[in-house]
Amino acid sequence: MHFPVMLNEVIRCLDPKPGENFVDCTVGEGGHARAILDRNGPDGRVLGIDLDPEILHKISMSIKGTDYANRLLLVHGNFSNLKAIVEKYGFSRISGVLFDLGFSAWHIEQSGRGFSLWRNEPLDMRYDLHGSITAEAILNFWSLQDIERILRVYGEERFYRRIAREIVDSRPLKTTMDLVMAVERATPRWYHRQRIHFATRTFQALRIAVNNELENLEKALPQAFEVLCNGGRLVVISFHSLEDRIVKNFMKAKAKEGLLKMLTKKPLKPSMEEVKRNPRSRSAKLRAAAKLFK
Ligand SMILES: C[S@@+](CC[C@H](N)C(=O)[O-])C[C@H]1O[C@@H](n2cnc3c(N)ncnc32)[C@H](O)[C@@H]1O
Repeated sequence: MHFPVMLNEVIRCLDPKPGENFVDCTVGEGGHARAILDRNGPDGRVLGIDLDPEILHKISMSIKGTDYANRLLLVHGNFSNLKAIVEKYGFSRISGVLFDLGFSAWHIEQSGRGFSLWRNEPLDMRYDLHGSITAEAILNFWSLQDIERILRVYGEERFYRRIAREIVDSRPLKTTMDLVMAVERATPRWYHRQRIHFATRTFQALRIAVNNELENLEKALPQAFEVLCNGGRLVVISFHSLEDRIVKNFMKAKAKEGLLKMLTKKPLKPSMEEVKRNPRSRSAKLRAAAKLFK
């Protein structure tokens, strides 16, 4: 069962109306996109971008022959190239842009690419299998200092030095279990009994590094602002403090210039019912703003 995160809040902020066009920069399994299409018919469209061709194939199969297929344009691409993608496909009068950052449930449960610390899989962690470096390459070939840096900066991991040392000493690492065990050896016993699994921050750091996640977001937000029509809404769901900081700083700076109006004073969080139904939503934060007429 696929539960799009904070769906009601996304719809409330995007406020889709018949005939309006939207860009879903992280279309994934299409949960949010479908809900938008349920409201902007009969002729409003959604441009759905995703970096992962496999997930795009999955959604395109699932909407085949439905009204969704007529109004959802699926594009394989990186949202860091948002403006070029929008221009290439001649998509205009954009009333809202949505980002639901990170990986999807499908990545964790079915992709077999090592996103989950609970499954023994190859250490890949790429969204786009044509792209960039794998987690395995980082772990086995990067210098001790570079591994320390990503654990400290992207993982905000307090034991970054000890974990990086253990990774380098345990080479070659091939699977997620090799990595979980290295983190376990490097960290004290009490750390293994915390609410958050002791390898969570290490996995987060690698995923961010492999997919250039923070740089992509930094590049995409100004483009999202640019492609929006006046009054258009920008909605971003983030899942950790590094992403949220980028979103907050961007929106606040634009609001200060009088170019955006904040629709959320503080970030919205999922309801208790949602967290119960979908524990993965627990760290979500949603920020929304509207482009001001100039
Ligand atoms: C949390 S999921 C989105 C789920 C979607 N909102 C839904 O309801 O099914 C995030 C998606 O963003 C994609 N993604 C991550 N980084 C991306 C990027 N830089 N450009 C485009 N897509 C990206 C991932 O492949 C993943 O499918």
